[in-house]
Amino acid sequence: MIELENIEKIYRSEGVSTPVLKGVSFRVEAGEYVAVMGPSGSGKTTLMNILGCLDTPTGGRYLLDEIDMVKLDDDELSRVRNRKIGFVFQLFYLLERATTLKNVMLPLIYAEEYPADAEQRARNSLLEVGLGERMNYHPNTLSGGEQQRVAIARALINDPAIILADEPTGNLDSRSGIEVLSVFKRLHRQGRTIVVVTHDRFVAEHAGRIIQLKDGVVTEDKAVAEPRDPEAELQDPERREVAQ
Ligand SMILES: Nc1ncnc2c1ncn2[C@@H]1O[C@H](COP(=O)(O)OP(=O)(O)O)[C@@H](O)[C@H]1O
Ligand SMILES: [Mg+2]
Repeated sequence: MIELENIEKIYRSEGVSTPVLKGVSFRVEAGEYVAVMGPSGSGKTTLMNILGCLDTPTGGRYLLDEIDMVKLDDDELSRVRNRKIGFVFQLFYLLERATTLKNVMLPLIYAEEYPADAEQRARNSLLEVGLGERMNYHPNTLSGGEQQRVAIARALINDPAIILADEPTGNLDSRSGIEVLSVFKRLHRQGRTIVVVTHDRFVAEHAGRIIQLKDGVVTEDKAVAEPRDPEAELQDPERREVAQ
């Protein structure tokens, strides 16, 4: 489904070139749950922006469902993005003045054609993330974990096959973070492809596979023998420890 071949990204500004991705290659099959893990500054967000068609690489090939993304123009990229990909960020980017229901409907308001069942779809999305009771609340009356789940509901509104998340628990306390990971696990079980970008080993170990990124190259790519179980962690705080 996702195929990266020798992806390079060099930022250029004011005569200075900063090479950030230096030949990144990997494939992600449909239905996988993958973590891209690396220290701060290793190029994770840059890579996620390329995967999400928010940015284009300066070299290499990116095929998404066999379509060469590097060849598409901006309009075509944004169409692919809206249809196939749901984004979750560290900061939730919710509109404070809109209810959770309105926040989740927002991507549809900007869609080419506003669907007649927009509100019903938003309700279903909120039910999926366990926020059926919070539809008419405003974001600032919700906990951080709930706000992130609203953002996930918003990401689900176009029923994307892929969820891309960049440090989705970075702004959350440990319990709220695990709640978010439990939503990802559920979405994965439904058959969605999940790619989580994180510096946090604990978060990465919830995925079925960890791709290590360091200084712009993949240094390791392997399956997680026994992915962590967020449900068990919610029951038992001792499971929230990372083995040293
Ligand atoms: N727009 C940009 N222009 C120039 N340099 C950038 C830009 N965005 C990121 N960088 C640099 O690229 C490197 C990797 O950044 P990033 O992809 O955000 O890493 P990570 O998400 O792993 O922390 C950093 O050194 C950062 O300063
Ligand atoms: Mg980052």
